[in-house]
Amino acid sequence: MIAFDKEKRIFKIETRNTVYVMQIVHDKFAAHLYYGKKTDGVAADYVERAVDFAPYVAEVGIGFSLETTPTELSFFDSGDLRDTAVKLQNANGDCTTLFYYKDYRIFKGRVEFDDMPYSRGGDETLELIYVDEVSGCVLHSYYTVFEQSDTITRYQRYENKGNAPLCIRQAASCQLELDDREWTMITLCGKYAKERNLVEYPAHLGIQRIYSKRGHSSHHFNPFMALKTKDTRENSGDAYAFEFVYSGDFESQTELTFDKKARVMMGLNRDTFAWNLAQGEMFTTPEVIMTYSACGLNKLSQNLHDHIRGYIIPSKFVNSKRPVVINTWEAVYFNIDENVLSSYAEKAKELGIDTLVIDDGWFGSRNNDSQGLGDWFVNREKFQNGLAAFSDKVHDLGLRLGIWIEPEMINPKSELYKAHPEWVLQCKNRPSSLGRKQLVLDLTNDEVINYIVDTIKRTLSGVKLEYIKWDFNRTLSEVGSLALPPEKQCEVKHRFVLGTYKMHKLLTQAFPNVLFEGCSGGGGRFDAGILFYCPQIWASDNTDPVTRMEIQKGTAFAYPISSISAHVSNSRSNKLEVSPDYEFRFNVALGGMLGYEMNITRLSKEDEEKIKRQVAKYDKWYGLLLTGDQYRLKVDGGEYAFVCVAKDKSEFLFVYQDTQNRQRRKLSLVGLDEKAAYVCENGNTYSGKTLHEDGIDVAVSKLPYGYFSCYGKRI
Ligand code: GLA
Repeated sequence: MIAFDKEKRIFKIETRNTVYVMQIVHDKFAAHLYYGKKTDGVAADYVERAVDFAPYVAEVGIGFSLETTPTELSFFDSGDLRDTAVKLQNANGDCTTLFYYKDYRIFKGRVEFDDMPYSRGGDETLELIYVDEVSGCVLHSYYTVFEQSDTITRYQRYENKGNAPLCIRQAASCQLELDDREWTMITLCGKYAKERNLVEYPAHLGIQRIYSKRGHSSHHFNPFMALKTKDTRENSGDAYAFEFVYSGDFESQTELTFDKKARVMMGLNRDTFAWNLAQGEMFTTPEVIMTYSACGLNKLSQNLHDHIRGYIIPSKFVNSKRPVVINTWEAVYFNIDENVLSSYAEKAKELGIDTLVIDDGWFGSRNNDSQGLGDWFVNREKFQNGLAAFSDKVHDLGLRLGIWIEPEMINPKSELYKAHPEWVLQCKNRPSSLGRKQLVLDLTNDEVINYIVDTIKRTLSGVKLEYIKWDFNRTLSEVGSLALPPEKQCEVKHRFVLGTYKMHKLLTQAFPNVLFEGCSGGGGRFDAGILFYCPQIWASDNTDPVTRMEIQKGTAFAYPISSISAHVSNSRSNKLEVSPDYEFRFNVALGGMLGYEMNITRLSKEDEEKIKRQVAKYDKWYGLLLTGDQYRLKVDGGEYAFVCVAKDKSEFLFVYQDTQNRQRRKLSLVGLDEKAAYVCENGNTYSGKTLHEDGIDVAVSKLPYGYFSCYGKRI
């Protein structure tokens, strides 16, 4: 619910458990008052804080300085000398920016984007309208409420109503001012094959920024940030989170001033973004999802999970069973052979696996990673009867089929590059760096997008397909477009991401019943932008279960289990002396959507039986993993444990992993109905209260990698 107190000029945005309050002061500025637990109290008026030496707004008088005002948005070079959110370059060349609040609008639902991902639905929206009186630019600032998930989304829209062109130099999507509470920052950081590890560090004076300048959201910093207080735990205390619905360059930062007040900002990366706004044009920033929890980090994560499942991923996939795939990559790499694949399909059927995914190597001259990308034609040496005939064969066996694509990329050694070297992102007269022996297509150019989309559509038409894995295997550099004039080169990074979204939109519309899975050299583009089109994303090329525990724990802090694609493989990381067995690997894969990635035609009978049992278990449990509330449990180093509890608390799945040789363990379960009794798979009945207060006995049988899982149903 959104309310405006006309007398006090206070806006209140309420979700189920939270309230966000701001006040219009001096008729010009939106001052932030409160974001936190819903209270019955009336919000106090904004109190001005005068500070010596701070520039004050001359019209208002001494005592009112933008430098000490907790504004809803801050403007470059107009007296606020902290890091600011908005910077426009005016026609006269200066970058001084100052918007005054003018008006507001409250309306049901939200304004949808047609060129970018966004949160679908929304209960109600507040639009604050600001004007820069010098340039004539109008700024529309949106807050949309999603009551059930306790989330609020924010984005900004600029409209040049002046009489000269402008250039937007910086356009954060969200700013939030917080009081001095000794904040700890939580981010998801890593690198290739070690993505999204949960990292915590105390916020210190000055600016702490995470960012990507890589053209994708990146393996290195995820477009997610949370802040908690010193006393916040999994199930108690205050925490805030911010998640960017965007897949390209971003920045996210907290600035602590000397008096330890925090300013949080998230948006497009100012180093690699600028946008020309001619008279009459509009520019819209991507959206940020914001949430607050008064009862700890589990609730914070659950809010984000509910938001992503409820409003980001395509609705038809929210409750539908995801495919259990056998993916060819780690088994055969580029050596795709129709007959070998047929034997995989037959074996998969026997094991209960339902989808065969042909990974890289099925098209053009793609026999290794140095060639063929861009040539989206079936390789007839590998599929002598064509892909349609192969798909019929797979479907006749009762299996479904998936295929791999990487539409944004091109190898210099390809037919497409020979025909269209100008279709590649490049800067005139400069050599282009390579990444995985490939270049990047110029998706600012519609001709390129249409060619790739049409070719893929034509090649796959008539092929029975249920799944497409969409990869993105390099970071961008020398980002220029031969299709755009010099003054628009500064827009290429963002235009490229918009081009990617256009491609996602066209291809997902062309294959409406296909589940698209995102991927980027493992998990280099794991973000809410991609989840708008792809309900799940390959979390990492690292399938070693011990490293995966950390990757999946970090990923699930911000994204639901249903978005994480997790395969059982037999990869062995260098770190491990003993390879964990398939049971441990399966247990780790329960932190995501199950698949297999190995040569299944060479398994021992014993391992085949294990896999059959795993798939059968997963068939019973997937509903909980898709839609349940996930609670992380308090564990020690080298362990990971969570319970997934149905929304109505009628069933739960407890999952535990250990890499430290612990042989017995007792863990307290949270999130259950304490008044109810649950019967567990082992036949024992426990009350929810006992499982919470006394805990559950975890008998870790295998050494050195222990695992345990237990399903319980309320009686
Ligand atoms: C990336 C993906 C892998 C696989 C290869 C194929 O690295 O993450 O899963 O698809 O590309 O080239």
